[in-house]
Amino acid sequence: RMLKRQMMCRGDIHRLNAPLLAIYESLIPPEEERTKQKQLLALLEKLVCKEWPKAQLFLYGSCANSFGVSKSDIDVCLVFNEDINDKSEILLKLADILQSDNLQNVQALTRARVPIVKLMDPATGISCDICINNVLAVVNTKLLRDYAKIDARLRQLAFIVKHWAKSRGVNETYRGTLSSYAYVLMCIHFLQQRRPAILPCLQGMEKTYNVSVDNIECAYFDKVEQLSNFGSSNKETVAQLVWGFFNYWAYGHDYANSVISVRTGSIISKQEKEWTRRVGNDRHLICIEDPFEISHDLGRVVDKFSIRVVREEFERAADIMQYDPNPCVKLFEPY
Ligand code: CTP
Ligand code: MG
Repeated sequence: RMLKRQMMCRGDIHRLNAPLLAIYESLIPPEEERTKQKQLLALLEKLVCKEWPKAQLFLYGSCANSFGVSKSDIDVCLVFNEDINDKSEILLKLADILQSDNLQNVQALTRARVPIVKLMDPATGISCDICINNVLAVVNTKLLRDYAKIDARLRQLAFIVKHWAKSRGVNETYRGTLSSYAYVLMCIHFLQQRRPAILPCLQGMEKTYNVSVDNIECAYFDKVEQLSNFGSSNKETVAQLVWGFFNYWAYGHDYANSVISVRTGSIISKQEKEWTRRVGNDRHLICIEDPFEISHDLGRVVDKFSIRVVREEFERAADIMQYDPNPCVKLFEPY
């Protein structure tokens, strides 16, 4: 069954291209949202600078990695040029400063896994989370954004996949399903694996960008303007890629032995990473290597119950792409 699927996709797949592209277009944030985000960032910079003149603010996550849909919250990172032992103290101070400047719903969540200050800006209507010294997130945000510049099909595929995951309830890490960040890495890896390849492996090329964060070397080729023709000999359309993506995760991926790795542009073995045993709460039931924190499996949130949910959703999506007369509606049906 798997072989047959891998060889033959539905004959009328091209018919799905226009409607999938229309969904993608409808999700892209309008330019005015970007203007408002910049406006809010400028306000935050002004307020932060008064208290900590040497600190810097960076956007990260979907508002900066080019995989953000319309009306997303924004993620901001406050970076000090020194280690912060007591983030709670800084966050409480920050909440205090922001509160007094009529920003709304200001809350310091000092005991969260990633401690943050949350707020809503009434002038722009944008909600925002501010974390401290999470420089790796700022750097992996740049990596994702750079990959997106190489071939337009990455952004198209990832928007469709994220939209599907949100509609189907499999984008909730607190319930054991995958983060948006994990889904985007899955899309990048998938396009690195096409033949001919649609994306290169930037970390395997000459290192034109190189920063060291928490003793981790983050280095890769970032002159991506030079790669704008990279995928052009592969003519696959977004419809074929969406079909192929779900087919791979439903019927092609070897969950027992394989780890997907954007860092190497290949599949590596669980054995090699010593991800075969359960250590603490890390179960490694679906293995997605973080490109920089390579001991970090983004699938570690998935447990023995939620792995079934996730895999059944991949199978449902693959079957809809293969057989359903109206996949562009069915795929995104609320669960
Ligand atoms: N991140 C990370 N490690 C994780 C999860 C997230 O480093 N395990 C960082 C990444 O920089 C990611 C950012 O946090 O870009 C935000 O993560 P997430 O909310 O999963 O992705 P978004 O792109 O913001 O997606 P959404 O549109 O759903 O908010
Ligand atoms: Mg986000």
